[in-house]
Amino acid sequence: MKAVALTRYLPVSDPQCFVDVDLPDAQPGPRDLLVRVKAVSVNPIDTKVRTPSDKVEVQPRVIGWDAAGVVQAVGAEVSLFKPGDEVYYAGDITRPGCDSELHRVDERIVALKPKSLDFAQAAALPLTAITAWEAYFDRMKIDPAGAHRGASLLMLGGAGGVGSIGIQIAKMAGLVVIATASRPQSQAWCRELGADHVIDHKQPLRPQIEALGLRYVDYIACWSDLDQYWDTIGDLIRPQGAICSIVGNRAPLAQDAVRAKSATFSWELMFTRARFTTPDMIEQHRLLTKVAALIDAGVFRTTLRETLSPINASNLRTAHARLESGSMIGKLVLSGWGA
Ligand SMILES: NC(=O)c1ccc[n+]([C@@H]2O[C@H](COP(=O)([O-])OP(=O)(O)OC[C@H]3O[C@@H](n4cnc5c(N)ncnc54)[C@H](OP(=O)(O)O)[C@@H]3O)[C@@H](O)[C@H]2O)c1
Repeated sequence: MKAVALTRYLPVSDPQCFVDVDLPDAQPGPRDLLVRVKAVSVNPIDTKVRTPSDKVEVQPRVIGWDAAGVVQAVGAEVSLFKPGDEVYYAGDITRPGCDSELHRVDERIVALKPKSLDFAQAAALPLTAITAWEAYFDRMKIDPAGAHRGASLLMLGGAGGVGSIGIQIAKMAGLVVIATASRPQSQAWCRELGADHVIDHKQPLRPQIEALGLRYVDYIACWSDLDQYWDTIGDLIRPQGAICSIVGNRAPLAQDAVRAKSATFSWELMFTRARFTTPDMIEQHRLLTKVAALIDAGVFRTTLRETLSPINASNLRTAHARLESGSMIGKLVLSGWGA
């Protein structure tokens, strides 16, 4: 099978940072689907995994964890899917990634793709949708059915991959979404996706929140640099409010402000369920199934903004360079394997 891989961890400026390779076909394990990959999306985790170092892989390493494709074969214990099903999923960071023609993935973290989307439009969604959904509903305990309707959610980083679907999911739950974006085009994108207010993260946030008539916000979703925002988060969170970060801290974080307010702080890592094979791992199958239904019902839309074709080393390098610029709006997808 064709695949895009790395053997060395090189800066994205190096044309050799990815190589086109031919690998033996993957074989499915008992609960695995073997998926013929049609489109893949790129995420900052991919560039973090590719961080330059002296490490050398003996076997080519395939990365990338966001895909849409067609089930080609199923393992002996698979019960949710059959060959021919069109699926989308994010996968498992502890297993090879999806930048290959054939890919093995546990059925419990896969769903049928939205019928109204093509493969590229579908591949834009799974990793980011799982992240935002779990952050709101599993970690911060917001009610997806709307019991917290009218509560305010400050989203740090509204226009990127997670923010683009995160705005839509938060609106579904009835929240008042205050998204941050710093450029006219990223601000316009947040509004287009349904953000009630857009404020500029390159300017102090408190005066902008107060200009909206608020002293505090009920929820804060940190989709960006946690260290940079920690003091602001402590200042802006409502007493007894909830905070969730999907980005780790580099330095210890002073707890005083958050503790004084008895605020809840939680982490969200969308790979946790697959990585530890948690008993509720199938929740990601259910979650992606709900997202597909909401897409097909016209409640959500794809976050795809740009497609590169085919899936090869050159285009993957271009995609990583774009991610590393830190200025992505929506999602970038690679589609098709060429002749
Ligand atoms: N824990 C998890 O499971 C999980 C899952 C997914 C992602 N993540 C992490 O979450 C982060 C965001 O992911 P993503 O896919 O949304 O990234 P992304 O698509 O690359 O985000 C790009 C956006 O970030 C915004 N941005 C840049 N600097 C910012 C700042 N200082 N403050 C606020 N926003 C800023 C930009 O907005 P402007 O252009 O308007 O400035 C841009 O639109 C990454 O670090 C990623 O690794 C974690």
